Amino acid sequence: MRVCVVGSGGREHALAVALGRTAEVLVCPGNPGMEALGVECGDGPPDSIDADLYVIGPEAPLVDGLADELRAEGRLVFGPGADGATLEGSKAWMKELLAGAGVPTARYGVFDDIGPAREFLRSLPGPWVVKTDGLAAGKGVLVTEDIVAAEADAAGKLSGEAFGEAGRRVVVEEGLRGPELSLMAVCDGRRAVPLAAAQDFKRVGDGDTGPNTGGMGAYSPVPAASSGVVDEIMDVAVRPTLAALAERGIDYRGVLYAGIMLTESGPRVLEFNVRFGDPETQVVMARWHGDVTALIAAAAAGRLDTVPAPKFTSDAAVCVVLAVPGYPDSPRTGQRVLGLEEARGKDGIQLYSAGIGSGLVTAAGRVLGVTAMGPTIAAARERAYDGVRAVSWPGMHYRTDIASAAAAASEVETGR
Ligand code: AMP
Ligand code: GLY
Repeated sequence: MRVCVVGSGGREHALAVALGRTAEVLVCPGNPGMEALGVECGDGPPDSIDADLYVIGPEAPLVDGLADELRAEGRLVFGPGADGATLEGSKAWMKELLAGAGVPTARYGVFDDIGPAREFLRSLPGPWVVKTDGLAAGKGVLVTEDIVAAEADAAGKLSGEAFGEAGRRVVVEEGLRGPELSLMAVCDGRRAVPLAAAQDFKRVGDGDTGPNTGGMGAYSPVPAASSGVVDEIMDVAVRPTLAALAERGIDYRGVLYAGIMLTESGPRVLEFNVRFGDPETQVVMARWHGDVTALIAAAAAGRLDTVPAPKFTSDAAVCVVLAVPGYPDSPRTGQRVLGLEEARGKDGIQLYSAGIGSGLVTAAGRVLGVTAMGPTIAAARERAYDGVRAVSWPGMHYRTDIASAAAAASEVETGR
């Protein structure tokens, strides 16, 4: 089978490697770093590429209807149409769908004007959460203990100054507390099967400090996500959401990615994404046993009942993302990436190019994901950072605490 993966980041590189175990894969457009690391990349619009299966990575083309266009041409596609992608494209729409389906989520209000938004903020105990309704590359959410900051943030978003059209409507939420996890489920329109849970690190700095990023690292398994917790999330969040979509006539074939907070009163959905997580995919794919292509193709065909459920090794995976100076606020690119070959040669290491341009120079804020496997989270973590130390460019930075708490909490990991 020939598979076309649409996208250009570390997630797409990881998908290409996993699908490439049992298929011929081309990434469209990919990036020069991926090519240097042995992945075939192709230019041009996805429908100019001849493939048996199309797997769409990022949310923007899904929201823009790429899956619909390809399906209209009779192609097999993994990724929801524009209708289902609204789940990520509009947080207000998502919250309304969840509320209607009885899915546990934070109390919220949707506002187009600052007056009522301010009034609602003042009725909540705090912490306060203000989100853009529309897509903002993972950066449209403020969580704060300071109501003055929350009100100012809502005003900046609603005025259009902070995020343009994406912020002219905001969702205000009560702030929840607890550990977070990402659970991705593969859906075929009616059925959903969970992948291994992962945890990502959104803030740029150690100890969860500094601004939000596209993701600075991830690990899997998550000690707090026992199989009971995963089953509960599937039962109270993922399956009811898929059923609510189906009731609205939406044939959802793709990933439902639940961003979950494990609160004292049980799991709560913070968000749904309509695609694989980045960098969660870099660790989840590494732990997936068996034929990834067969499962994804079956989901795209509406036939998850014809394939075995995905299985994951008990080994752990840790991914550390390396970024350019100034990322995320004012990234400066164009530095030469050194040490790729040395890092690549290390035991248990897989490199994923997120933003390496031609001539092997940095070409995006997030440049490289160094993923390592090991029998425990601690062992995988050690290997990942050993790989990281082989790579360099001027001003390169990364978090030094990816998976450190989980590694300390559990020396021996089993299950998912
Ligand atoms: P989202 O894009 O909606 O997942 O939000 C990004 C991040 O903001 C999440 O991963 C959480 O860390 C945080 N967040 C979102 N909603 C809430 C909430 N209601 N309470 C506390 N933190 C939240
Ligand atoms: N890792 C967060 C995301 O993919 O949205």
